Formats: sequence, structure tokens, C-alpha cells
Amino acid sequence: MCGIVGYIGHRDAYEVIIKGLKRLEYRGYDSAGIALLNDKVELAKTKGKVADLEAMCATTISNKGKLGLGHTRWATHGIPNDTNSHPHVSNSGNLVLVHNGIIENYDALKQTLLKRGYVFHSDTDTEILVNLIEDVKIKEKVKLGKAVQIALNQVIGAYAIAVFDVQKPGEIVAAKLGSPLAIGVGEKEYFIASDASPYIEHTNKTVYLEDGEMAIIRLHKSLKIRSIKNDNLIDPYVQELQMSIENIEKGGYDHFMLKEIYEQPQAIIDTFRGRMKADEGIVKLSGLEDHIEKFLHARRIIVIACGTSWHAGLVAEYIFEDLARIPVEVEYASEFRYRNPVIFKDDVVIAISQSGETADTLAAIKLAKQQGAFVFGICNVVGSSIARETHTGAYTHAGPEIGVASTKAFTTQITLLTLMALRLGKKLGALSNTRYRNLLQELQLIPAKIEKVLAVSSQIEHISSLYNHATNCLYLGRGYNFPVALEGALKLKEISYIHAEGYPAAEMKHGPIALIDENMPVFVIATKKGHYDKIVSNIQEIKSRNAKIIAIVTEGDETVKGLADHVIEIPETEECMTPLLASVPLQILSYYIALQRGCNVDQPRNLAKSVTVE
Ligand code: F6R
Repeated sequence: MCGIVGYIGHRDAYEVIIKGLKRLEYRGYDSAGIALLNDKVELAKTKGKVADLEAMCATTISNKGKLGLGHTRWATHGIPNDTNSHPHVSNSGNLVLVHNGIIENYDALKQTLLKRGYVFHSDTDTEILVNLIEDVKIKEKVKLGKAVQIALNQVIGAYAIAVFDVQKPGEIVAAKLGSPLAIGVGEKEYFIASDASPYIEHTNKTVYLEDGEMAIIRLHKSLKIRSIKNDNLIDPYVQELQMSIENIEKGGYDHFMLKEIYEQPQAIIDTFRGRMKADEGIVKLSGLEDHIEKFLHARRIIVIACGTSWHAGLVAEYIFEDLARIPVEVEYASEFRYRNPVIFKDDVVIAISQSGETADTLAAIKLAKQQGAFVFGICNVVGSSIARETHTGAYTHAGPEIGVASTKAFTTQITLLTLMALRLGKKLGALSNTRYRNLLQELQLIPAKIEKVLAVSSQIEHISSLYNHATNCLYLGRGYNFPVALEGALKLKEISYIHAEGYPAAEMKHGPIALIDENMPVFVIATKKGHYDKIVSNIQEIKSRNAKIIAIVTEGDETVKGLADHVIEIPETEECMTPLLASVPLQILSYYIALQRGCNVDQPRNLAKSVTVE
């Protein structure tokens, strides 16, 4: 959470930073700020979005320096207001710092600094950190880099920081522990950012700082990376990124979320490209092949994830047990990490994360590794912390997902998990050759089938307009469609702020049925394959209580059509692939409902794309 952008070079730092902050706004958007250094430092910060900051700068900033830092915030310590916004400046006015993360021992540090005469204007942990660095610098009579290092060794918590010294223009010091930080290496210029998107049009050469590393970035000098703990010099590993500018722009769509919904057919093709040859019966994921014995002899698979990725994990439970007959447990990473779980050495852990930065998932991975488990990561963001922390893994190749509500990440995660289950099911003899081949053929058809669902989006938009005033909604599904119900409800609540519950349809009569009346829209996933008769009975029960029923059905279904108020048809597919199709109309429904309610679809309140705090 929070986005950091820094620049040092020959360009107008203001332009680079503002543009970069807009690209990082998905990480947090309750306040924003910028500090620019030329012959003096100029600072502007405000509650609100980067556009508000831009408007403020139009009248307040005159300095078009070549060095600067910017920040877009998701509040942790202190409410979103102008004063708590970053950058924060030390008491002397010399040090300027931006921070993403949480300093856990902030209070103890603050008490010490108060005794030493420091004063604080904000409620943030960041202001404590910048003054701690200043205090060390003055007390120890050291340069900025050394002061940062000494100070960070006193800090408990998570951080990605960038700081400059007004007295020493031409240098930025950055450091990382737990929150991401990338350094773009250009021609006589450097960029610093929470991910590479702010500078991708200027350079694709990137160094991802590892946990416990700091960088001393000086104009006209080579990049220096050191260990925060012991000061050892570390050779920077410069990667060439594949990301392109088109990937991170809206491409004619009104919102990133809509673009990303429509990108799903291609994203799924990209996920199985080079990994699946359906006609030849081949599935090959190198991360899996290199460690296949671990999976074949696994006592069980434990999936750890959060949010939508956790829902993909629930789908994986059904897929792996169904196709490969491997027992699976699915855990919220945030619970797993704190509940002293039993982890066996022959457990295989699959960690799923779009961003690859989710703090709870990262901590759960570390715990599983400490206890001897083998950890396989499924991430979308290349080079992310989770991708690096896991023993091996596979990328989803969905391309950047910028809308805060996850869409294509979900369907590509399921695609990847399906490929893995197919490969293992075949190898373990749980799938006959014919069934295996049929499933591969079907998976290949999924992108075209999603296109057919996308083609009825105007019908879905119309249905949305009938229910956009609802205050509560219920989502029901059985079997493979139960996680789809959970995901449908999450999509609706997070972007439209309508209370929505996902439930296994059969559980309804154990409580939630009491909620049902004529004011409750009920979204039911009632596809032909997958306990169809049972779900039809559930629909009867709902109908007799006068609720409005919106059903996702298989093309040509007549029975549910006769019962429901509205049906949305999806093409027929294998039961295990139903989530790939059934989740799409629910994404579109949420999108239009949120839009019709005037909500900010891409940046819903209180949320951020990358949850790097626990
Ligand atoms: C919901 C959503 C979140 C994320 C969750 C985990 O639309 O996006 O629930 O799924 O924060 O994030 P990742 O997958 O990045 O670990």
C-alpha cells in the first residue's frame, strides 16, 4: 500500500513523478504529495488524489528541479489529511522522506526523540523515521547513507523508503524491508518506484531491491547496493522487463476494470501459451516439472492466499481433489500465519497472489518454509516479493491488473491451477488418457467461450440497472460454483458498497433463508453440470419467499428460465471449468452496478491494490 516515486536525472522531475504517481494510485489514493529539489526544496501535499495534488501544484510549485520524491498514500498511522501526507521533512528541514509500510516500534522511537527535543507535527510513523535518521546523522556525524543504515537497524516493521538531503543535492537513498521497491536504471538517470510502471517508457532496466537492502543512488555514479545489516556491498542484479506502456493504459475503455474484464480471453491464452499443447496432450510448467516429485508425494496441498486469490484457492481445492485426488486445504494467509498450524515436511504449499506483495501471504510463506514445507508461488507480478520468496512457481501472465477489483487475475489463477491439476492427475493416474485429453481440449476453448459471455454485456448492464438500488444481495452456488458465489459477492461489495453475502446454496436453509424477502436480489449460479437438480430445488425455495432471482445458467436452459426473474446464459463447459465462465457475468454486473451508483470503480474507497501491511 502507498506508492512511492523518485527521480534523479536530466528530466523535469515534477512531470516524471506526477505521471508515475498516477500509475501507482492503485496502491493507495487518500492523499498525495511531492517534494522537488533544485536550489531550494519545494513541497506540496494534500488529502485527496494525485489530480488534487496536480491542481495544487499548478499554483504552488515553481521549481522544476531534476530531483524529487512523490507519494500516494493509503493511511495506516494517522487519518488522511494534508499534514499526514508524505513527503515528511525532518526538524532541520534538511531531510525529505517518503515511506510505504509500518514502523511498529514507532512509539518507543518517538519517546526517545521527544526527549532529545524533536517535535512532531503529524500522527505518522514516517515523521518519526525521518527525524530518527536526522538524529543519527547529526549525532554520529555521518553521511545520509550511513545514517539511514544505522537508523533502520533500530527500526522494527516494514518499509520501502526514499530520502534525500537538501544539503547534498544529487543523491537519493532508498531502502527496503517487506514493502516493494524497484529502481529503474536509465542513461544518466535513475527512477525509484514501488513497481516499474512509473518509468517503463523511459527504461526497462530494473533492479528490484531485496529485503534488507539499501541503495545509494547518485547522479553520474553507478548504483551502489548495500546490506542494511552489515554494510556489505551487493552486486545489483539488473533485469530487463517485458512490460509495455500499452499494458498499463486504459486503451479506450472507461475504466481499467472493464478493460481487464475484456482482456480475460487473451490473458488466459497468455497463461497457457507455451505450457499446453492440447492436440498433443502436453502440459508443461517448468516450475512444476522441476519439482514434480514433491507434488506426487505430497501428503496434502495447503493453499494460502487472501481475498480473490483465496477464492481461486477454493476453486483449486475442488480441481485438485477432483482431477488429481490430492487432498487440499485452503487457508486465509492471515489466519494461517498466526494460528500455529501443523505443517508437515511433505506438505506442498501453494501461495496465490496477484500482486506478489500481500504481507499476510508473504509471512505465511515464510512460516511454511521455516517448518520445512515446499512452497510453490502463483503470482502475476514478475519479480514480486512472493515470486522471489517461494521455492519455485509459475506466473499467470495476465498482464498488469490496475483496477483494484481483481478480475483477470482470478481467471488466470484458475487457469494455471487447472493446468497443474491436469498434469498431476495424469501423472498420478487419477485421470484416464481420454478424460485428460478432453479436458485439455475444453480448456483451449475457454477464451472463445468467455468472448461469448462478453458479447451479452449489454443485457447484463440492463439487469444491473434494475438492482443498483439494492442494499443487500445474496449469491448462491454449489460445488465449483460456491467459490464463484463468494467471488461474485466480493466484487459487488468492494466496488458498489452494497452488502453482499456468498453462500453454498444448501447452507441457505441453515440461517440465511431468514433474510430472504421481496427486497433481496439473489444471484444463483445454476449451471447444468454441477448439482443442477439440487440448485433448482434451492431456486424453488427462494422463489416461494418472493425474492428476485438472477440466475447464471447454461445456454439453452429452460427449467431455471421458467423460475428466475432474469437469466444470463453462459456456454456449456466441463464442470471444473465453470468458474472460468460463470465469474465473468458477475464481474460485469458488479461493474455496471457500481458505475450506475456513481462509485469509483477502479479505486473503491478504503481499498488498495497491493496490501503490503497486515
Ligand atoms: C478483490 C481483491 C483482493 C485481493 C487480495 C489479495 O478484488 O483484489 O481481495 O485479491 O487483496 O491480493 P493479492 O492477490 O495481490 O495477494
